[in-house]
Amino acid sequence: PQVTLTDSNARLTATLPTGESIDILLHGATILSWKDAAGRENFWLSDAAKLDGSGAARGGIPIVFPVFGTSDGHGAEKLPQHGFARNSRWEFLGKSTSEAAKEGVKLDFGLSSQNLSDDVRAQWPYTFGLLYSVTLDRGSLNTTLVVTNDGDVPFEFQTLLHNYFRVDDIEKVTVKGFEDAPYVDKADQFKTKTQAGAVTFAGETDSVYTPAQGPGHPLVIEEDGKPRFRIVRDNLEDAVVFNPWVDKARSMGDFEPKDGWKKMLCVEPGSVSKWQTLEKGDAFEAAQTIYLV
Ligand code: BG6
Repeated sequence: PQVTLTDSNARLTATLPTGESIDILLHGATILSWKDAAGRENFWLSDAAKLDGSGAARGGIPIVFPVFGTSDGHGAEKLPQHGFARNSRWEFLGKSTSEAAKEGVKLDFGLSSQNLSDDVRAQWPYTFGLLYSVTLDRGSLNTTLVVTNDGDVPFEFQTLLHNYFRVDDIEKVTVKGFEDAPYVDKADQFKTKTQAGAVTFAGETDSVYTPAQGPGHPLVIEEDGKPRFRIVRDNLEDAVVFNPWVDKARSMGDFEPKDGWKKMLCVEPGSVSKWQTLEKGDAFEAAQTIYLV
């Protein structure tokens, strides 16, 4: 595998001998692009995404940590929406080939309290470490996050992998794996509902699911009745399904083209309906593997 730093070390590209590739922005350790061997792009990235470190990138896989949305409790009161991980510069720790990455490559990224600006540290004064490992394999992409408490006091957090998938036509997409799952409908006054059948799209969608089948049960994104992406979660009990549709896309300054909602869909494994507590010296590990069906 070939790993190249570009844009004055701000961005990294990894390409497998078989042709698959990923692009990662060190700002946010955000995977911006994932192409298969034929060059087909799997992720949606806004034409107006901030790629210069001036904000979180809109598209790919932003990492949500240590709060999902905003919170008026749990030590997260001062944090911006979705926390600081997606909007901080991470360190590239190196690449490895391992048993886990059979024909592929594993890239490690780190973010800890010491990397944060004084402003951000004032918003969340805990001593933590994040290790984010990205494994590109021939037909899959695994992202694993390890959170450690390296300080003396416990802290609480939420986390989520905010996948923006590229699709051909959102109105032909269905998502399976949420059958009978309870969810909070953020697009309808945070009402609690129960999913009937597969998820389909006909308007703004912003649903926080806690599927009863648990993390081991795959989530499958289909287009035109054909499976396209299969997501297997590990230790992430929730998953958010999000599409801004017409009005919300228009209101998002970094969302381009404005009708880009037709071509994207977020299915985001996370731990967001509750708070994880990490005691001094403890670690939390969670992951997703996305298979090209
Ligand atoms: C989703 C949330 O995960 O992220 C939505 O459920 C939110 O409510 C969306 O609008 C995008 O968030 P942001 O902060 O990137 O605009």
